Amino acid sequence: MIKGIIFDLDGVILSTDDFHYKAWKALADRLGVPFDREKNNRLRGVSRMASLEIVLEGYDFSEEDKKRFAEEKNEAYRESLKGLTPKDVTEEVRNTLEALHQKGFKIAIGSSSKNTKLILTQVGLLNAFDAIADGTDITHSKPNPEVFLVASKRICLDPSECIVVEDAFAGIDAAIAGGFLPVAIGDARNHKGAAHRIDSLGQLLSLPEIR
Ligand code: BG6
Ligand code: MG
Repeated sequence: MIKGIIFDLDGVILSTDDFHYKAWKALADRLGVPFDREKNNRLRGVSRMASLEIVLEGYDFSEEDKKRFAEEKNEAYRESLKGLTPKDVTEEVRNTLEALHQKGFKIAIGSSSKNTKLILTQVGLLNAFDAIADGTDITHSKPNPEVFLVASKRICLDPSECIVVEDAFAGIDAAIAGGFLPVAIGDARNHKGAAHRIDSLGQLLSLPEIR
C-alpha cells in the first residue's frame, strides 16, 4: 500500500530544469562544444560533475579546467535562481501537495541537487515537505537509488510503500533499482519502466494508488 510520495525537484516541482539547461548551454557555447535540448535530457537527475562529463563528451580538458567549468556553470545557475519567488510554484503543484497531505500521505523531496534547500527557501516550500533528501546527503547520484532511500527512511516508510515522481530517465532507473513505484512526468514519460505516466502533477491524484 502506498503511503508516501517522493518528488524529484528540478522539472517536477519547479521548472528549474530550464535554468540548468541555459547555464550548461552558456558554458558549452563559450567552449565551442555542441549542446542541445536532446543532450540536456541526459543530464536530468545526474550530479553536476557527471553532467559536465556528458557535456564535454569527446573533448579533452584537464581535471583543473573541469572543476572551474563546473563552478562557472553553478554560478550562472545560481544567478538565475535569484529571480525565483513563491509565484514560480504553480497553483496545481501547491494544491496537489496539499491534497496529498490531506489524504494522509507523507511527502518528501529526493533531488540530486546541492541547491535544493536554496531553491525551496526562495519559493517558500522549505517547510512544505515531511523530509528533504538532496545532493548534500549522498555519495552516489541517480541512477543510484541512494537519495530516494534516504528520503524514504526520513519519512519512515519502506520503498515499496512510496511512489517516486521523476522527469529523468536516471530518476526512473533509480526508483526501480530502489524498489519504489516509478511515476514519470516530462521527458521520463518515454521511459519504458514507468508504472504510470502523467502530463502534469495534478494527475497524481487520479492514480489508483492514491485515489
Ligand atoms: C538534478 C538535475 O536535479 O540536480 C541535474 O536534474 C543537476 O540536471 C543535478 O545536474 C545537480 O544539481 P546542482 O544544483 O547540485 O548542480
Ligand atoms: Mg528532474
